[in-house]
Amino acid sequence: MTPPPPPPTVTTAEGGARPQVAPKKFDVEGIERVYVWDIVVRATHWFTMIAIFILAFTGIYIGDPFLIPAGAAEDQFVMATTKVVHFYTAIAFTLLVVTRIVWMFVGSYYARWHQFVPIGKRRRGDIWKMIKFYALLSKDPPLNVGHNPLAGMTYLLVYSLYVLMILTGLAMYSVSASGYMESLDFLVPVFGGLQTARWIHHVAMWFILGFFAHHIWSAMLVSRLEGMGLIDSMFSGYKFLPRRWRTRLQLSWRDRDKPYPEDE
Ligand code: HEM
Ligand code: HEM
Repeated sequence: MTPPPPPPTVTTAEGGARPQVAPKKFDVEGIERVYVWDIVVRATHWFTMIAIFILAFTGIYIGDPFLIPAGAAEDQFVMATTKVVHFYTAIAFTLLVVTRIVWMFVGSYYARWHQFVPIGKRRRGDIWKMIKFYALLSKDPPLNVGHNPLAGMTYLLVYSLYVLMILTGLAMYSVSASGYMESLDFLVPVFGGLQTARWIHHVAMWFILGFFAHHIWSAMLVSRLEGMGLIDSMFSGYKFLPRRWRTRLQLSWRDRDKPYPEDE
């Protein structure tokens, strides 16, 4: 009887692609399941995403009412209903953004502001490594426990756009508001008048939607290449990280509020 063929010596990821970065580099000691994103990071991420879709859809209608039903306006209320949905969602959006910004100062280690501002030498170095990876000058993205520093800086820009949306939105709202919201009309001259505020509000929306297109693409690409469960982690909170990072430091993964050398 002929013996079975020997197992292949080189393993590649399914589909014939090359091996993923983390298992390829660290397969000697294996991979561990680590809780990285706390519930506030995850909940604000997904609820903000839903709010953005509703705000963008209703906002595009407010700016350009593409559906005008026949008949008297008071029987339809399409624009009025759309505006009410926009405004209530805007309240939810504002609360989510404020919660996440406060969480950047009081949340768990990987929720904090240093994930967005690259203060450490290693994180600054990783920005260039990430740019080289996107420019096709390097094959592997640098590995991080939290956000990679280039992504972190981009998120800072995204949060600035969120704040801009809130402020320009409040400026526009103040002129038709009654009660204490009227006092926010000081924001109108800050943005150079109502029409400019409206223009900024509109253009910033396209920047956010443009970011979304890139974000999906890069999340899928990096998640696939790293092999650390990046996209899954935004749902479950857990990433699959090289055990060596922990054993080298003699740390328990429960010490997640302490920096690992990869994040210094
Ligand atoms: C990502 C979030 C948001 C998106 C994508 C968005 C999108 C839009 C768009 C496209 C318009 C129409 C602009 C035009 O005339 O071309 C609009 C109008 C408006 N938005 Fe937003 N918006 C967002 C958040 C907010 C927030 C947070 C507020 C309030 C704090 C707000 C308040 C308003 C107001 C008051 C108007 C003008 C409505 C009117 O003409 O009566 N928006 N929004
Ligand atoms: C309008 C849509 C979206 C916006 C504006 C958005 C924005 C953001 C922001 C601001 C962060 C940083 C999270 C934080 O620490 O607060 C983030 C992280 C992340 N998002 Fe989204 N997101 C959107 C949709 C999605 C979708 C659809 C996916 C899934 C494919 C996704 C996957 C992720 C992942 C995996 C991370 C962590 C990435 C990393 O560590 O760099 N996002 N996103």
